[in-house]
Amino acid sequence: MADTAHFGDRQVPLGDKQALVDEVFRSVARRYDLMNDLMSFGLHRAWKDALVTAVDPPRQAPFAHLDIAGGTGDVALRVLQAGGDRTSVTVCDINADMLAVGRERAAAKQLGDAVSFIEANAEALPFPDRSFDAASIAFGIRNVTRIDAALAEAFRVLKIGGKFLCLEFSAVDVPGLDRLYDLYSFNVIPALGRAVTGDAESYRYLVESIRRFPNPQTFAGMMRAAGFARVTHKTMSGGIVALHCGWRL
Ligand SMILES: C[S@@+](CC[C@H](N)C(=O)[O-])C[C@H]1O[C@@H](n2cnc3c(N)ncnc32)[C@H](O)[C@@H]1O
Repeated sequence: MADTAHFGDRQVPLGDKQALVDEVFRSVARRYDLMNDLMSFGLHRAWKDALVTAVDPPRQAPFAHLDIAGGTGDVALRVLQAGGDRTSVTVCDINADMLAVGRERAAAKQLGDAVSFIEANAEALPFPDRSFDAASIAFGIRNVTRIDAALAEAFRVLKIGGKFLCLEFSAVDVPGLDRLYDLYSFNVIPALGRAVTGDAESYRYLVESIRRFPNPQTFAGMMRAAGFARVTHKTMSGGIVALHCGWRL
């Protein structure tokens, strides 16, 4: 039997998954940031700020950061704001529509060369070995077809001593909140997606893909297998999201 992958709850041929994911983000790109605010009641901002605090870009020294699956540049802009004049961020994403929104946001803020946007697959990054001081991926890894390949690539492009941060949805671990979260996710989010983007199906996929993502312990094992050392994670908002950290040593 040919290799398959999950696209949300559907099992699809491995080679078809990326195109389906690309269609989701092409469809929602223009309303993506607004939907994040509405769906999470603005909480995604606090989760991303926690990631940036963990990145901890220096105020004085040069610092090259890579944001993988960086979409509309939301994390990149926060890293730049936290860092000094010598901080630069490369946003890489496979989706030209998401990157176009990011480029417009960066141009509006007149960020010049401090940020660049590169269309590329997380599974085959177009950067030399050991080129970045830190790398991150926020709400991106569960969309990637071959997660192992993406983790290996993140490891490869980090300098020795570089840090990798992964922010991803996790499993709610507060009794009561879990049922409420399920009701909200499977009923409210697709309806909100339909109202705001005209596309309920894309948001159904996003909710299903969250449920299918490995738990933090399993994901920590995948990070170690890719070579990362001192792998840790912390959950936030009752387990709605987890922030994973690992080092290339
Ligand atoms: C949920 S969005 C997250 C965007 C951004 N990181 C944020 O937190 O706002 C997921 C992103 O992953 C990107 N993506 C999906 N598969 C990818 C791949 N194989 N390589 C690079 N980016 C990918 C999508 O195009 C999309 O922009």
